[in-house]
Amino acid sequence: MDKKQIEEMIDLAIRQLDYSYAPYSHFHVGAALLAKNGTYYTGCNIENAAYGSTMCAERNAIANMITNGENEIIKLVCVDSKGNVGSPCGACREYMMQLSKNSKDIEILKNIDTKEIVKLEELIPDWWGKGRV
Ligand code: THU
Repeated sequence: MDKKQIEEMIDLAIRQLDYSYAPYSHFHVGAALLAKNGTYYTGCNIENAAYGSTMCAERNAIANMITNGENEIIKLVCVDSKGNVGSPCGACREYMMQLSKNSKDIEILKNIDTKEIVKLEELIPDWWGKGRV
């Protein structure tokens, strides 16, 4: 993974922490993804008093991409306010698998220091939409 590009994505994800709305968990999350068109799309987690309405940072970044007419994710970075890399939850993994072209090859940052990545397919080999979508 291109280290300079990843640093840029980490910065963008960290910037999203300022916008995160997390009055219930106090756990702030920011995400940045790189789409095939070369554009970065970002998102933060947005909680709600009706807890089930909470949206993860990653899904907001994906929705941001979709609503801007793009449909292919190349890379994703997710961070929390302690500076740790977040591994997308199951719902976000499924979302990415279903909503991106070539989704099994999406690269997800695993380690902020070494810049190690993992492919989405390794995180969710038996996804719900497999063979259905
Ligand atoms: N959260 C994310 O933003 N991304 C994930 O992949 C899992 C969890 C958020 C949801 C909630 O606002 C907070 O983290 C605590 O679970």
